Amino acid sequence: MRLQDQVAIITGGANGIGLAACERFAQEGAKVVMADFDDKAGNKQQQILRDKGYDITFIQVNVADRESVNQLVSNAVEAYGGIDILVNNAGITRDAMLAKMDPADFQEVLNVNINGVFNCTQAVLPYLLEKGKGKIINTSSVSGVYGNAGQTNYAASKAAVIGMTKSWAKELGRKGINVNAVSPGFTRTAMVENIPEKLVAQMSSMIALQRLALPIDIANAYLFLASSESDYVQGHVLQVDGGIMM
Ligand code: NAI
Repeated sequence: MRLQDQVAIITGGANGIGLAACERFAQEGAKVVMADFDDKAGNKQQQILRDKGYDITFIQVNVADRESVNQLVSNAVEAYGGIDILVNNAGITRDAMLAKMDPADFQEVLNVNINGVFNCTQAVLPYLLEKGKGKIINTSSVSGVYGNAGQTNYAASKAAVIGMTKSWAKELGRKGINVNAVSPGFTRTAMVENIPEKLVAQMSSMIALQRLALPIDIANAYLFLASSESDYVQGHVLQVDGGIMM
């Protein structure tokens, strides 16, 4: 058990990569707070995972809203007595080419993907400092590292995630807190489900491993960065993209 009795908050935990991470962490003995805006999926997945015998609590949150985040963190601490791991996985896209991008969509993506990560980390930090250790894992993207046409807002937000990761790694290392990021490649979740299979085949041909990621591929990277196996890894952006860019 690589996370025995560790308390982990996983944002965006009700679907896709976050959901795979909730199950994977619980399999390794973690007590998992599945934090998500989507209460329908959250309640359903909480039940499914509890039926499998896992210690999971769904708490509804809007990561872009500081009050909601503070409530999440105090409910998590009340339920489990503390926090050891935060996975800032919640994220959204509102894609459009630059000429057509609605400024409201630009701002909304920044609100969730940047402010959300900032809000959750700031709210959890006192509990990690109290323990003198902890793990913060942020989710970037290949778009944040290399840019992507049609994703001005998303690429900007995911590049910002890397900036925050490296700044916090420097700031919090001396406090015993590891801060790292995962940069997933294209992953088979709702985020890419509307892409036609023909395009998926084209995308796959550009990937060294010749396939899109599965949510579990990314969840396993989160697990490594949440476990003691990565205790000397700091400020790293772990690309889990099948070798799409090298
Ligand atoms: P998804 O759309 O399947 O799941 C995202 C989850 O975040 C959903 O459950 C949604 O309800 C939740 N969420 C959205 N806004 C929220 C908010 N304001 N407050 C709380 N929860 C909120 O997406 P997926 O693919 O699982 O993505 C997870 C992370 O991985 C995201 O940060 C995404 O940007 C990143 N990523 C995904 C890639 C992909 O190809 N699927 C590629 C690179 C990065």
